[in-house]
Amino acid sequence: MASNSPRQHPVTSSSAAADSQYIPFIDLQAQRARLGNRIEEAMERVLQHGRFINGPEIDELERQLSAFCGARHVIACASGTTALSLGLTALGAKYRDAIFVPAFTFVSPGEVAARLGCIPVFLDVEPDTCNISPDSLVRGIEMAKEHGLTPRGVIVIDLFGQPADYDKLTQIATGHDLWMMADAAQSFGAVYKGTHVGKLARVTATSFFPSKPLGCYGDGGAIFTDSDVLAAEMRSRRQHGQGEDRMTHVRIGMNGRLDSLQAAILIEKLSILGDELKARDRIARRYNEALKDLVIVPTVRPDRFSAWAQYTVRLRPGERDAVRASLDADKIPTAIYYHTALHQHAPYVGYPRAGGKLPVAEELAETVLSLPFHPYLEEPLQDRIVDSFRKAIKAARNG
Ligand SMILES: Cc1ncc(COP(=O)(O)O)c(C=O)c1O
Repeated sequence: MASNSPRQHPVTSSSAAADSQYIPFIDLQAQRARLGNRIEEAMERVLQHGRFINGPEIDELERQLSAFCGARHVIACASGTTALSLGLTALGAKYRDAIFVPAFTFVSPGEVAARLGCIPVFLDVEPDTCNISPDSLVRGIEMAKEHGLTPRGVIVIDLFGQPADYDKLTQIATGHDLWMMADAAQSFGAVYKGTHVGKLARVTATSFFPSKPLGCYGDGGAIFTDSDVLAAEMRSRRQHGQGEDRMTHVRIGMNGRLDSLQAAILIEKLSILGDELKARDRIARRYNEALKDLVIVPTVRPDRFSAWAQYTVRLRPGERDAVRASLDADKIPTAIYYHTALHQHAPYVGYPRAGGKLPVAEELAETVLSLPFHPYLEEPLQDRIVDSFRKAIKAARNG
């Protein structure tokens, strides 16, 4: 059952139907049970009015997301990757621009930069937060210049839900005249020094992939900005570059829209997000207490509130396979986010790396392990996971 691919993991308890002892990695059915009939009723309303594209739910969701995080503009879109792509284009990313991307992450930010013809320059990350290392950004900027590239922007990723070091990164970016875009695919709902994710960079992109802290039942995403100009451009590009009316095209765009049905689902889920975030935080801290003597548990800096998209520990080199196999034998799924750093994937090996080497990203790829985690993970199940994990670690180290 264990797999190296996060996306092959069961995200709902339906997998448990096949084996009732198997703990779901993320239990979306528990959330659905809490919402009662609200999802079905919301979907039924869309079926009744029939405006499947650009229905009233889109405006309503955008309004509610804006109220939640404080961003002046919210543009719902088809996925987190679409959000990144629309954001990069609006920020003016062009052929051969150097765009700085942390190497320990999901592929999307490197992918959209490369697809636009930019040069992703990969950065190393901090070992404790797994987020961009500000020192690596400085090295990356120097290196891009040495390669004759124009440093243009940085995509800041809030990995596993924790906001990156925005103050330091903003200072470096501003000093080098770079724009900053946040990839908050994993961190919608998180807070940095009292400011919500969505307001920490000029443009912020998030994902509503089902397993995200706020997820829909398919693909979805959103972009946040306080800029009227960027918002207008991204709205237009989301719908084929439309101008005054639907059949007038004033710029090259795409079909980047979110469906009304997904917006209707998200409105219901957003109403319980605050509560779920508190539960995530409580459970993560309980895991930390139970595991901190054995492995490196996640650190959240005191000035931040994490959305805890994943609960990810660091093991000693070489023990991960045995630990996973042992947990799997106890019917406990695990995932590896990420078993390969971005610069090590075949299409990306040729792009520059800040300082030539990214040792922290590479070491994390070999040692991280994510445990089952969601806001409805009750204490008896947490204890079962903890017991099995402790047993697995001890066996791996004694054997
Ligand atoms: C950091 C990060 N960026 C971008 C994405 C892409 O989001 P989507 O799958 O909605 O396109 C993800 C999704 O896993 C992600 O984790």
